[in-house]
Order: sequence, then structure tokens, then C-alpha cells
Amino acid sequence: MQRISEEVIKEVLQKTDIVDIISEKVSLSKKGKSYFGLCPFHNEKTPSFSVEPERKIYTCFSCGEKGNAITFKQKTENITFVEAVEDLAIKANISLDLSSVRRENPNKKYFDINNDALNFYKLFLSSTKQGVIARKYLAKRGITDEVINTFNIGLSSTGFDVLYKTLTEKGILVSDLFDLGLVKQSKKESFYDLFRERIIFPIIDERSNVVGFSGRSYLEADKDSPKYINSPQTKVFTKSRVLYNLNNALNEIKKNDRVVLFEGYMDVIAAYRANVKESVASMGTSLTTEQVKLIKRYTNNVTICYDGDPAGIEATSRAIRLFENERMEVKIILLPDNLDPDDYLTKYSTAELNTYINENWIDKIEFSYLKNNMNIDFSKMLDIEHFKKTIFDLIKNTSNTIIESYIKRLSSDINISLESVRQDFYQYTKRNIQNIGGRAKRTIPIESKYLVAERRLISYFISDIKFVLKFNVEFGEIFYINSTSRDIKHLIEDQHYKNLENNVNSDINEEDLIEILSQDQLHFYNTKVKNKMIELFDKEYDDLLSTIQDYINSLLQEEIEEKIKNAPTNTEKIELAKYRDVYIKEVQHGKR
Ligand code: GTP
Ligand code: MN
Repeated sequence: MQRISEEVIKEVLQKTDIVDIISEKVSLSKKGKSYFGLCPFHNEKTPSFSVEPERKIYTCFSCGEKGNAITFKQKTENITFVEAVEDLAIKANISLDLSSVRRENPNKKYFDINNDALNFYKLFLSSTKQGVIARKYLAKRGITDEVINTFNIGLSSTGFDVLYKTLTEKGILVSDLFDLGLVKQSKKESFYDLFRERIIFPIIDERSNVVGFSGRSYLEADKDSPKYINSPQTKVFTKSRVLYNLNNALNEIKKNDRVVLFEGYMDVIAAYRANVKESVASMGTSLTTEQVKLIKRYTNNVTICYDGDPAGIEATSRAIRLFENERMEVKIILLPDNLDPDDYLTKYSTAELNTYINENWIDKIEFSYLKNNMNIDFSKMLDIEHFKKTIFDLIKNTSNTIIESYIKRLSSDINISLESVRQDFYQYTKRNIQNIGGRAKRTIPIESKYLVAERRLISYFISDIKFVLKFNVEFGEIFYINSTSRDIKHLIEDQHYKNLENNVNSDINEEDLIEILSQDQLHFYNTKVKNKMIELFDKEYDDLLSTIQDYINSLLQEEIEEKIKNAPTNTEKIELAKYRDVYIKEVQHGKR
């Protein structure tokens, strides 16, 4: 194999505008001769990533990453050197013949075999007797031949080993079919197909390689078997790294500068029928950081359209957080009546689904408002107080217009006067601001038992996802006192999910942690958490949760006391005191 000549590389770099290339992924602003932005190679809040157009290089002063347009593309898109040069050459209108240097993808053999399997499945759907039945089922669900072709939908045979026989007769090695998960082995020398009598949805990556399959059962008789089965993890298929339909959606994503993210394959197909073609789905598991980064390569704008049921709402919350970690813009679609997009289309029409997706989106504040509003019991003072604080935290850094409009809504939803809610808000944020500056009226002693409890909880969160889940049930997404603790908790939570997708269990090892924590977080972890990870007991965990609850209660109570003190009239003082008494009773009776 030859190498690409130095001259060619020089020419490509010469004719490439590095600012242009990097701007595709990082928003840059000009300062003097250089451009600055947030480093894409590590998480940071203040820009230390600089691009120098004259020298055609980039440098991050914080993490030390540096290079040119080629290395930038390689690293951010996970492609080879040759592929990066080729892509840049195309962009710069340089014609290159790289066939002599293009190293064949080592997985090409597998992609070819998967492609053969796909052709078999497609043929089976289009030209067999069983295919007629399957196409009837598809037609009933609104899937026309045009959709079948676009999504390359196929059908696996009823027989035990028809794919196995067909492909091995073509000379394909059984060991390769085995590696791809297409066939399984029962006894020695006895092989059978993984997919039997299922509608086949191929999973095709953004470079058009067929990497795996998902098969849906469709016959009444199969009602008890799993609805979908997927290819197992193979050399070319890792569920957490692919997005269904990204191949078809790619151009539309770039054209519209957004992606619409769904839960299911059928939802993506419904969206396509409704002419929303920049649609993808994760593979039935919860969204992963890798999938988020994959999307970020092409756009910063995501519209999440998950199912409207409680599980879908939880999954949406989690997805919002993952996109926010990558500083992406999120919109959310909440479909009515627990419908998923496919149901919605069936119940209404393609036009109405299109309108709903394009016009009825809400932003993340609105989403949180609705989600929290759904979960509160308006007969409980504590719930109301908690709800109020949650909303205050959500809006406190936004514009006055937004703040005012939410204060109005809050006032009407919790049935407290507008003036009173407004006063609460400004008092609450004032206290917060003072807290940040360390000049709080009420200072939490640095080593208060609350802070210690909160840090200690992190060890539990690392040890087992069940502790994270229980905490979430008790306190929602709010981790009260220290923001580093809260951020670390979120990262740990995401890591658990990620591990669950890749392994059988969600255990986190130390190396994983070092990977995911920023420098500051790691320092915090090493000095304040790590050596305290001695032994963990369920009983201690419950005590820690009570400590946190005490803290929240004491804050709320203190606030009521302050209001009583400041109330202008005696009548109001009495009203507030009544309120306080109900509140204290609730606490004593453990209503939370
Ligand atoms: P339909 O029920 O045909 O409308 O499909 P759907 O895509 O709407 O499925 P659903 O909303 O029930 O599930 C969403 C996604 O979760 C699916 O697209 C699959 O990726 C995944 N999924 C659902 N059921 C199963 C299952 O039994 N096994 C596996 N492995 N994945 C599943
Ligand atoms: Mn569905």
C-alpha cells in the first residue's frame, strides 16, 4: 500500500479553511487574529480552545489537544486519516484518486455478508407466499411498498435454517455467520437462523454499512415471544453506538439542521410518512452519550419525541440532560393521551403528525414544569413548596419575560397570590445568589452534616444503580446543596445506564470514573469521596436520605418563619403561622 504524498496533504491543508471546518462542530468567536470556542475534546464552561487560521492549527490551552484540520476531523468523526483527507479534498474541490491508498475497512467482509443476508430477507418479503401475509400486515399498519424500499424492510423465513443454508451454499463460512449472530448453534454441527418468521428492520450505519438487524414478530400465533429481537453485539454492531435510520436521515438532518429522535422503529417510519425525514431512533435502550455525540457531528438541534407515557417522560428527562451535557439545543414533543407517534398518525393523519412535530414543541423549562406539575399532590404543603423551588431553580437564570410568565402560572396552579409568589421568587433567588458568593444570611457551615451526607451518598451511587434510583424517587432531580456533588451524581447515573447497555450489570470501575469526571470533579472525588468508600450499608443509606430530607425541611421551615416575621399585618402573620403548623405536622408525620 502506498502512502498519501506529502504534497497532496499540503495542498489539502492549504486549500482548507480550518475555521470553516471547526465551525461545523464548535461555535467560534473572533478575538484578534484567532477564534475561540468551547473545547470539543473535554467538558468546559469557559472557552480555552483556540483556532489560528493563519497557521491553520487549533490548540486547547486547557486539555492540551492540538492539531490541524485533518486531525480535527479524524478525532471528532472517528474516521481514518485517509478518509479525513478525502473528505477535506472533496470540500476543497481537489480531485484525488485515493484508491491506491484507501485501506480496506477490516470489517468489509462482515458488511458484505450482512448485505447478502439483507438481500435474502428483502427477496423473501417481496416474492414468497409468506411475504404476501407479512406485506398484508405491513399494509394494515400503513407501510406501503415505497416505505418498504426506503427502509429496506425484509422478512425472515419460517424454516429453521433457510438463511443458513442459502448463504453457506454461496460459500459464506458458517463461522462468519456465527460471528454476526445470524445463525446460532444448537448441537455440534447443527445450526439454525436467529431470525425466524419476523419482519426484518436492517440497522445501517451512517456510512451505509449494514451492521445488524432487528426482527419484529407479526403473527398472532407468536404473541408470546418477544416483540423484537436484535442482532447480538458483534464486531460490527454495538447497540449503544448506532441510531436507527441515520443513513437515510443524514442529508435531511444537514439540510434542516435538526434531528428528531424517537423511541421506536415504527415511530421513525411514521415520521417519514408524515414527511419528517430527519428522524432516528435509539435501539430500544435508553439513549447513550455515544449516540448523542454521533448526532452532534451533524447538528446541534434535537427534537425529542418519545412516548407520552410515564416511562417516556422519564426517558425524555434523561435525554435532555445528555444533550445538555454536549451543549445542544433541545425541543420536546409531548403527544397527547399516552400516544406514541405511530399511534398518533393512525388515530389522526400524516398531516396532523407533521403539524404536531413542527409546531407543538415545547422547551425544556416548559417540559420540566409540566413534568413536575404532574407529580405533585396539591393537598400537601410540602409538595407545593418543593414544586415552587424546582420551578424557581429552572427559571432563575432566564429573561424577565420568562420569569414573569412562569410566576403567573405558578400562582394560578398553586392558588397563591401573584404578589406572594413573586416575592418568594425574589427572596429565594437573592438567597441563592448570596449563597454562591458565600455571603449567605444563613450560612451552611462548610462541613455541615448535610454536606457530608451528600458526599457520602456518592459512594452509594457508584456502588449500585439501585441507590441512584431510590434517591431520584425521593428527591426528583434536585441534589440540593453542592453543585459538584450533583454533577457527579448525574455522570454516575449515566455511566450506570451505559454499562447496562454494554454488559449484563451496571457496575462502575474506577477507570470509568476517571474517564467521565472533569479535572475539578476528579479532584473533588479524590479528596472528598474516595477514601470514605469504606463499607456501605443499606441502613446507613436510609439515614443519609433522612439527613438530606431534614435539611430540605429546615430550609423550608426557616423560610416560613422569615415570612411570618416580615408579614405586614397581624392577620397575615396568623395565616402564615397556621400554614407553618400544618407544615410542621406534615413533617412530623413523615408525609414526605
Ligand atoms: P410497534 O409496536 O410495532 O409499533 O413497534 P415500536 O417500534 O413502536 O415499539 P415500541 O414502542 O413498543 O418499542 C420501542 C422500541 O423498543 C422498539 O422500536 C424496539 O427498538 C424496542 N423494543 C420493543 N420491544 C422490544 C423487545 O421485546 N425486545 C427488544 N430487544 N427491543 C424491543
Ligand atoms: Mn408503536
